[in-house]
Amino acid sequence: MHRIVFLGPPGAGKGTQAAELARELGIPHLSTGDLLRAAAAARTPLGLAAEDHINAGRLVPDDLVLRILGERLARPDARAGFLLDGFPRNLPQAEALGRVTPLDAVVSFDVDPEEIVRRLSDRRVCPQCQSVYNLSSRPPQAAGRCDKDGTSLVQRSDDRPEAVATRLKVYAEQTAPLLQFYRERGLLRPVNARGSPDQVTRRVRSLIP
Ligand code: AP5
Repeated sequence: MHRIVFLGPPGAGKGTQAAELARELGIPHLSTGDLLRAAAAARTPLGLAAEDHINAGRLVPDDLVLRILGERLARPDARAGFLLDGFPRNLPQAEALGRVTPLDAVVSFDVDPEEIVRRLSDRRVCPQCQSVYNLSSRPPQAAGRCDKDGTSLVQRSDDRPEAVATRLKVYAEQTAPLLQFYRERGLLRPVNARGSPDQVTRRVRSLIP
């Protein structure tokens, strides 16, 4: 069974690698960021409550995140394994997850702050299909347009410098303590997330039996 968590600072490449690994293992890629942004785009009450927190780079309150993730984890496709990307983000979330399911591995992404800022400032996303690009490391074939559906690419509102600074601070204060939490439980598998996306894919793959 593959019950995997990807842990790491914003822009470390978790989403990029999660999409690859989940496809290869045949398990769903569950990103709380994607679920929250989809709820906000659909103007649901939960999404509207989350939106200001996301745009400012703060964590969305635990009760909202636990509700949206709980509903997703309960769907049949997650029974045979899952890859959690961006959850848990603090100790209460890790404890809540532990009450619901055991885990098999927690892969932690290690990359320098300067590289994170570079990756985030160059990230562009498709608002239609959520594909992720990068002006330097993964440019679209036609400038400014999604390869899959031709939609104009946009910058995420929380990839602007003020929000990035908040996200890095939130990561250091609230999420980084989870490294020790999972190390103590024998689940932590650190990965060097520097280098090209393909190099990182090979390193991640070697950590998952
Ligand atoms: P979320 O969407 O989870 O954002 P994040 O954790 O900050 O992570 P990112 O999506 O920014 O980065 P990533 O590591 O996935 O990098 P990516 O692969 O895209 O959360 C957003 C917000 O939602 C939070 O701030 C919070 O408000 C809320 N939220 C979400 N979960 C929550 C929770 N559990 N509790 C409370 N609130 C929650 O890569 C980044 C860029 O780099 C891309 O352009 C990519 O193409 C490029 N790239 C990737 N790999 C490489 C490489 N090896 N070399 C060069 N470029 C690369």
